[in-house]
Amino acid sequence: MKIVVTGGLGFIGSHTVVELQNENFEVVVIDNLSNSSVEVLDGIERITGNKPIFEQIDLRDKAAVHSFFKKYDDVAGVIHFAASKAVGESVKEPLLYYENNIASLVYILQELQQKPEANFIFSSSCTVYGQAEVMPIAETTPIQPAMSPYGNTKQIGEEIITDVTKVSNINAILLRYFNPIGAHPSVEIGELPIGVPQNLVPFITQTGMGLRKALSVYGNDYPTVDGTCVRDYIHVVDLAKAHVIALQRLIDKKNADKLEIFNLGTGTGSSVLEVIHAFEKVSGQKLVYNIVERREGDVTSAYANTDKANTVLGWKTVSTLEEAMDSAWKWEQKVRSKN
Ligand code: WQD
Repeated sequence: MKIVVTGGLGFIGSHTVVELQNENFEVVVIDNLSNSSVEVLDGIERITGNKPIFEQIDLRDKAAVHSFFKKYDDVAGVIHFAASKAVGESVKEPLLYYENNIASLVYILQELQQKPEANFIFSSSCTVYGQAEVMPIAETTPIQPAMSPYGNTKQIGEEIITDVTKVSNINAILLRYFNPIGAHPSVEIGELPIGVPQNLVPFITQTGMGLRKALSVYGNDYPTVDGTCVRDYIHVVDLAKAHVIALQRLIDKKNADKLEIFNLGTGTGSSVLEVIHAFEKVSGQKLVYNIVERREGDVTSAYANTDKANTVLGWKTVSTLEEAMDSAWKWEQKVRSKN
C-alpha cells in the first residue's frame, strides 16, 4: 500500500518515513525542498535500505497536486507534514503562512474527497492550546485564540479537516505534537534548521559545537520549578511511531469517529534549565548561556495529558529527555564533522 508523506524530507516527516518503511509500507514523499535537503533521501535509504519514491512538488500549485493524485491513484493514506512552522517568521509574513499552510491543505483535501475513501493524518501542534489554564493538557482542553499566524494556521487547518470529514469519505486523525527533539539513533537523519535555530534544542547543540557563542535563556522569572518555561520534549522517533499507529488505525477502520484527535507528548514537563542540564550530562561539557528577557508569545508551561494516546492508540513514549538530548548531540556532531 502506498502512503503519501508530504514534507517527508523534513525533521518529523523523514523520521516517519523510516518508521513507515519499517512496517513495510511503500512511501511516496512529496517535498518542495524549501526547508529540507534532498540528501535526506539517502539518509533514509542508509537506515532502511529502501529509498522512497520522491516527487518535488510545491503543494501551493493546485494543478501539480491534481496531477500527482492522478498519477498515484493507489494511495492508502496521506500524512501531511508540509507547512511553514517558524512562529516568529509567521508574525512578520502572515500571508506566506496562510497561503502555504492553508492552500496546500485545501488542494490535497479536494483530491482526497474525490476518492471512495481516504485516510488522512494531520500534523498539528500543542500551540493550538495557547496558555492552557490546567496542566497536563488534554484533548478536551479548550482551544485558545492563536498566539501567532503559524498557530492560527494549525487551528484553521483542524477546522477545515473537521468540516470536510463531515461531508466526505475522508477519515482523519489530528496529531497535536508537543516539542519534538532529538534524532534517529543511526545518526543518519535529524533536525536540520536553516540559519539561526529558533527552537531550544538545536540552539543548545549548536552552542555546544561552538557555532553559537551562548544560548540566551528567554526569562527565568516564570512561576515554574526554576523560573524558566516548561515544555514537553518528545523524542522524534517516539513521535514518528505514533503516526504509523494512527495511520494503521484508519486503514484497519478502528477509528471510533471520522475525526479523532490525540496529544502526542511524554506527559512530563521539563524546564529550559533542566534541558540544559540534560545536555551537559550527556555531552560532558558545560553549556554557555545567559538569562535574558522573556520572548514575546511564550507560554509559561505546556505538557501533555497522554492518557488518550496511551489507551486508545496503545502508544506511549519510551525515550527519556537525556536519551533524546544524547541523540540530538550525536547528530549535531556528525553534521558539523561533515562541514
Ligand atoms: C522552547 C522553550 C523558549 C530558544 C515552538 C512552536 C511549536 C513547535 C515547537 C512547530 C521556550 C525557550 C528557546 C532559545 C530559549 N513548532 N528558548 N532560548 O516555542 O515551545 O514551540 O516549537 O510545530 O508549535 O511554538 O519551542 O524550542 O522555541 O522554545 O530560552 O534560544 O525554550 O522560551 O520556553 P516552543 P522552542
